[in-house]
Amino acid sequence: MNDKSTATESAKKVFRDEVLAGLARSPRQLPCKFFYDEPGAHLFRQICELPEYYVTRTEIKILRLHGAEIAAVLGPQIELIGLGTGAGTKTQILLQELDRPAVYVPIDISREQLEKSSERFRKMFPNLQILPVAADYLEPFELPLPRHLSSRSVVYFPGSTIGNFEPEAATEFLSRLVELVGEGGGLLIGIDLQKDRHVIEAAYNDNAGVTAKFNKNLLARINRELGADFDLGRWQHYAIYNPAEGRIEIYLMSETDQCVRIGDQTFQFRGGEKILTEYSYKHTIGGFTMLARQAGFEFQQVWTDDQRWFGVFYFIVAN
Ligand code: AVI
Repeated sequence: MNDKSTATESAKKVFRDEVLAGLARSPRQLPCKFFYDEPGAHLFRQICELPEYYVTRTEIKILRLHGAEIAAVLGPQIELIGLGTGAGTKTQILLQELDRPAVYVPIDISREQLEKSSERFRKMFPNLQILPVAADYLEPFELPLPRHLSSRSVVYFPGSTIGNFEPEAATEFLSRLVELVGEGGGLLIGIDLQKDRHVIEAAYNDNAGVTAKFNKNLLARINRELGADFDLGRWQHYAIYNPAEGRIEIYLMSETDQCVRIGDQTFQFRGGEKILTEYSYKHTIGGFTMLARQAGFEFQQVWTDDQRWFGVFYFIVAN
């Protein structure tokens, strides 16, 4: 077996183990990181364009409006480390504003996505050194050695992806970023803010049913990759805001009593029983600042839209 097929086999084993363990738990849950196989990533790109999903649009608007000021605060000749920056629309806006960035290090689990976006960026920014790293940023990874000296390292983590982490896991993850950028380093991070619950619930219950498809794709993926027999017609997408926890909770709900087979295991579901597939936390400015401080980041500034629906925060690691 070559390296690639060994890696695929071990990723498949992780998927199987975590799916079986999650479904055996009470209450049942499936990790949201598994949403993003190819069809899932395609559906997520469609979500970002939905009229109800204000998240992507609002963050881009903030960057367009305040990009020059953000770049001035980040300073000249920085090393920009992009985590999960996808197609790179937001990074492109940022790079256009930055003053002579020394190097851009995009980190993405999908080698294909990484090569595509790096190629595009090389054409757009011919003088910029780009050092892509194909890695799962949730796991420890090493940074490549840049050719030029940079003034500081700044992690760019857009999209409010950290909202999908429970607070304890978010603090732990941010602590790793503190280590990564070191003293004087920075973090520019996009955070979805708390707002009227109806706005949030609409964003996760879109009229076109794309979020429902995205959620159900997880069951379809289990069918495809683990030979399961989930009947997608007997499951419903269910998303509800929990104001006490400040998070939208996304579930798959069984419409009837049913039995599902995954390989040689069977799972019995009652009608109305739910599988938790995702939390998406909506923070307050003060709440997220505190969470980041616990990890070792000092608040510098936040840029928001007029309605204060979304915030782009900048933190540094104090010397
Ligand atoms: C990736 N993440 C920030 C999205 C969110 O809004 O929590 C994932 C998502 N799930 C359903 N719609 C979008």
